[in-house]
Amino acid sequence: MIFDFSELDRARRTKLLLSTVVPRPIAWVTTQDAAGRVNAAPFSFFNLLSSDPPILGLGIAPREGAEKDTAANIRAGGQFVVNLVSMALAPAMNMTAVDFGAGVEELQQAGLEAAPSHRVTPPRIAEAPVSLECQAMTLLPQPSGSLIVLGEVLALHIAEDNLLDAERCYVDTPALDLIGRLHGGGWYTQTRLPGAFEMPRLPTPANLAAPEGR
Ligand SMILES: Cc1cc2nc3c(=O)[nH]c(=O)nc-3n(C[C@H](O)[C@H](O)[C@H](O)COP(=O)(O)O)c2cc1C
Repeated sequence: MIFDFSELDRARRTKLLLSTVVPRPIAWVTTQDAAGRVNAAPFSFFNLLSSDPPILGLGIAPREGAEKDTAANIRAGGQFVVNLVSMALAPAMNMTAVDFGAGVEELQQAGLEAAPSHRVTPPRIAEAPVSLECQAMTLLPQPSGSLIVLGEVLALHIAEDNLLDAERCYVDTPALDLIGRLHGGGWYTQTRLPGAFEMPRLPTPANLAAPEGR
């Protein structure tokens, strides 16, 4: 069966996309408003788009036609922190997705601590295993009210316990125990065994390798 998106309404397109493009990593985004109030919310329209330059992308939908606090804060302040979510932090992340209304600090509601960032004004989530400090580089407002954000990563925080070799930047990724978003209203996946598996890249066959000197 083929679904032609030009013949589908928004709700049907969304259902098809969210239940097939899985798993999606979760950006647990902290921002700050002009009064210095810290906002936190999860976004699974998220991924790393490039490592050189280090760019990640976020998609922030509107809520009942109005801009979400995260989108408003990024547009106003230009900076944000993407914190990653471990299995242990899943319930707290879910709590910060509740629509508490502008001005309510989700981190307090979820019993979390803010920790100072290194290069940007918004703080990171102290409990998060990894935090990426970002400068918004391109904002792409959509006619639907969604805001697509491209951000440059300026700094990365990671607990030393999760590093195998700091000098060589070897991370103990399974130890991060990150989760991803799946289908439906509330399905998630873990990134560790037994779901994780290894498949080394294949070498290029000799007869297809580029001639020497090219
Ligand atoms: C796991 C998860 C992923 C989410 N992903 C998105 C997303 O990609 N885009 C979006 O607009 N909302 C997403 N949401 C909903 C927002 O987190 C929610 O609307 C939140 O209240 C926005 O907060 P804010 O107004 O403080 O920015 C997600 C919620 C959860 C629980």
